Amino acid sequence: MNIHPDIRPEKQQNVLQLRCAPLEVVRIGFVGLGVRAKRAVERMIHIDGTEITAICDLVEENIADAQAIITTNGKPAADTFCSAEGWEKVCTHDNVDVVYICTDWLSHAHIALHALNNGKHVAMEVPAAMSVEDCWKLVDTAERTRRHCIMLENCCYDEFELTLLHMVQKGILGEIIHAEGSYLHDLRKRISSNDEGGRRWSNWQVDFMNSHNGNPYPTHGLGPVALAMNIHRGDRMKSIVSLSSKRVGEQGNNTLTGTMNSSIIRTEQERTILVQHCISLPHPYSRSFLLSGTKGFAQKYPIPLMALDPEGDYAIIGDKLQQMLKEHIHPFVKKYKAYGEKLCGRRWIDYVMDSRLIYCLRNGLPLDMDVYDAAEWSCLVELTERSAAAGGKAVEIPDFTRGDWNKLKCTSFAE
Ligand SMILES: NC(=O)c1ccc[n+]([C@@H]2O[C@H](COP(=O)([O-])OP(=O)(O)OC[C@H]3O[C@@H](n4cnc5c(N)ncnc54)[C@H](O)[C@@H]3O)[C@@H](O)[C@H]2O)c1
Repeated sequence: MNIHPDIRPEKQQNVLQLRCAPLEVVRIGFVGLGVRAKRAVERMIHIDGTEITAICDLVEENIADAQAIITTNGKPAADTFCSAEGWEKVCTHDNVDVVYICTDWLSHAHIALHALNNGKHVAMEVPAAMSVEDCWKLVDTAERTRRHCIMLENCCYDEFELTLLHMVQKGILGEIIHAEGSYLHDLRKRISSNDEGGRRWSNWQVDFMNSHNGNPYPTHGLGPVALAMNIHRGDRMKSIVSLSSKRVGEQGNNTLTGTMNSSIIRTEQERTILVQHCISLPHPYSRSFLLSGTKGFAQKYPIPLMALDPEGDYAIIGDKLQQMLKEHIHPFVKKYKAYGEKLCGRRWIDYVMDSRLIYCLRNGLPLDMDVYDAAEWSCLVELTERSAAAGGKAVEIPDFTRGDWNKLKCTSFAE
């Protein structure tokens, strides 16, 4: 496929607010049935109007585990495929509407393109792609086939993030001028021991981390702040500068080495976003989620707090903060959190995400996030590495909407 970043191929239109025919029952095909996917299978069978019709993995045991989750819950067995070509069979399966991709990072885009080209909608794990070229391919293929292609960025559905999005949309923080989002998670032990609750796959994450020097996993941090800043809904990310620290950790024998990567994005409207990544140093878990607006401030980590005019220098914490968050609670939290917690405990945000996906597909609504979000957030994998390799040189961020970033006026995330 020839990609022309500045020229949309003839007859191809943007897929902003794409609506497709409603599906009474959403038939799902899973590709990859590792740690993450098995939890998704468990969630999906508890969501009305879904059927898991096809599943595949390279490892027989993963397929057996997933099938057992389906059948012991009284659902019809899915067709199973266990071979190197199994994913292609899921992508072309007559009884599949959505291909749900939970494989390792480097295979996401390739599988998604095949699914889209066969008329399927795609829901894919993060990051959607690991190169700018693959991001463009996803955009062009989604536009050409007019199928949904959503990246499953679950952190956009967490309670504080959703509530703050709601508050931003009501104008309570004013215009957001600067934001921060990160993935700072000490994963040294977990990754090196390959003990991620039964992972049965090669150590793809360590391999990638050990051989790349940018931010390989930018979407958890960037996603929620990009939505709050209406990226490609009135503003767009224009350029990025990125620097990586020296590499730490011992190389070899599946041991994780990595850097602290820090990047600053500048938008068309001259606003800034700091994005950081480090999983190889001691650090309390943090996705930062900091919003700095003309009328107010909010941050989630290390402790949630806000500050609002006219007392902009006063930290609102504790009961007062909780009261304020309760007052502005997002409708998705109201609708899905209680059952999600019952089903998935602290991972209830994944239940909100999947429930919203199914709700929108069943009602022919645009999905909460589109292929441009997937491309914009994922392209940082390559762009951070490029900028860092050039000593922090500014690198242009492609406009994946090809000039249509100003057509919508704000992020939807509404019922
Ligand atoms: N959003 C989140 O919070 C979150 C959390 C964990 C993982 N993830 C993402 O989920 C994805 C999977 O992570 P995981 O921890 O489950 O990894 P995993 O290694 O446990 O699972 C990957 C599975 O994909 C299978 N697979 C690989 N290539 C395949 C192919 N061509 N055909 C069929 N099956 C194939 C492997 O056999 C393995 O079972 C990753 O992209 C990761 O980034 C997201």
